[in-house]
Amino acid sequence: MDASPIPCASDRPSSTASDVLGDVSFLADHGVRHPYVAGAMGKGIASEEWVVRLARAGILSFFGAGGLPVARVASAIRRIRAAVGPNGSFGVNLLHSPVLPAQEDELVDLLLAEQVDRIEASAFVRATPALVRYRVAGLASGPDGSTVIRNRVIAKVSRPEVARQFFAPPDGDIVRALLGSGRITAEQARLAQGVPLADDVCAEADSGGHTDRRVAYTLVPHFRRLRDEIAARTRLRQRVRIGAAGGIGTPEAAAAAFMLGADFILTGSINQCTPEAGISETAKDMLAQADLADVEIAPAGDMFELGAKVQVLKRGSLFAGRANRLYELYRTLPGLDAIPADDRREIEERYFGRTIDAIWQETADFYAGHAASELVEAEANPRKKMAMVFRWYFIHSSRLAIDGRADQRANFQIHCGPAMGAANRWLKGTALEDWRRRHVDVLADRLMQEAAAIFVERLDAVVNRGRQPAPTPMRASLR
Ligand SMILES: Cc1cc2nc3c(=O)[nH]c(=O)nc-3n(C[C@H](O)[C@H](O)[C@H](O)COP(=O)(O)O)c2cc1C
Repeated sequence: MDASPIPCASDRPSSTASDVLGDVSFLADHGVRHPYVAGAMGKGIASEEWVVRLARAGILSFFGAGGLPVARVASAIRRIRAAVGPNGSFGVNLLHSPVLPAQEDELVDLLLAEQVDRIEASAFVRATPALVRYRVAGLASGPDGSTVIRNRVIAKVSRPEVARQFFAPPDGDIVRALLGSGRITAEQARLAQGVPLADDVCAEADSGGHTDRRVAYTLVPHFRRLRDEIAARTRLRQRVRIGAAGGIGTPEAAAAAFMLGADFILTGSINQCTPEAGISETAKDMLAQADLADVEIAPAGDMFELGAKVQVLKRGSLFAGRANRLYELYRTLPGLDAIPADDRREIEERYFGRTIDAIWQETADFYAGHAASELVEAEANPRKKMAMVFRWYFIHSSRLAIDGRADQRANFQIHCGPAMGAANRWLKGTALEDWRRRHVDVLADRLMQEAAAIFVERLDAVVNRGRQPAPTPMRASLR
């Protein structure tokens, strides 16, 4: 038997990531070069500049609309469009907010008016009328009788019971209600029965920012099975693609996600430490120092009462400890007046930098203009009032990190997962060690190219098991 290595993809130095990894329909549907998404980062950290850079490079990304007023999102969409032209592929994050549901509807009005043709839908527990409206209002009949889908949905999900709603057609009751209120046409309501709610469902494992701390090894295969089961039952023609997110900061992790069966991958943490991200240089310097274990779990400000969690940078900031302390007080005390005097002083001086009374005044002014019923409830419920005051700290601490108030570094809230430390180690000693050179598209290209090389190398190793090791020119050329 011939013992020479079997020729394989790694002998072709011109192989690109898209030749090897993921699902090609992802590239066609989204008009991009890689089965890769740079996931949204709220408050404009996934900034206009960041989206433009990626779109120009043919890489899909989503503007970080979470936590921003609709008018600010509108101006971002126009600026991005002007820079990338009508064919540039990008989207906007539709982040579900249980606290301010009206904003979700307003954002969908804007997305439809501006003809934004793809969204990253996240934090949904169940499909809302606003989300369904976005999807269904983009349906039309094609000349050959097929259904044209104008509004693409990538849903980011960490739980099977949520994922199953996105694999199936939109909820019939919601569709009927939208039809009844004249927000979609009868034809769109009919077509809705034949398409899944999402084109892509991304399984989000332990990640930076909001996280259920799931494990990709269990989530991705389960989502694939669930997708197939629901497709068999509903007889939908469109195959929903499965993505993987959470913990991807190295080419090895990306290659593993594709080996697990992901049709595409989505990254988050690593894209924050790039010149284009809308957060301060001080924060980026801190992120560039992070190692694998320099992250910690803290309460999530926007879902404080529900006990939701975020993963944040621990190194260089005391935010996680302080936020956990606030949550503990919320859990155990009946209201603000019950906070022991020493604790109150420490919180006001070190955490908040102002008095609790001043914060309540500011908070009440905001809610009076946005959700007056919340205010009425808070006046009658001391624990609710306490939660609203504590939530102010979460907005404030994010703002400090975005603005780069170096004297307030101890309070910086920087969302970040272990992928950041892994990327710092991967890039050490390379041209991208300095974050100022880690342009977000360069990082994506490099991650995907090296992942493809690793993927092919592993396949070669299997094919050539027991034979002479094959040369790996593709990977060597990247170093
Ligand atoms: C700073 C930061 C802010 C984020 N903000 C949002 C957001 O507003 N909406 C959202 O859907 N996901 C958000 N995410 C999650 C990312 O889009 C992505 O799903 C996640 O970071 C992937 O996991 P990784 O951090 O392990 O790469 C954020 C992540 C980070 C690091």
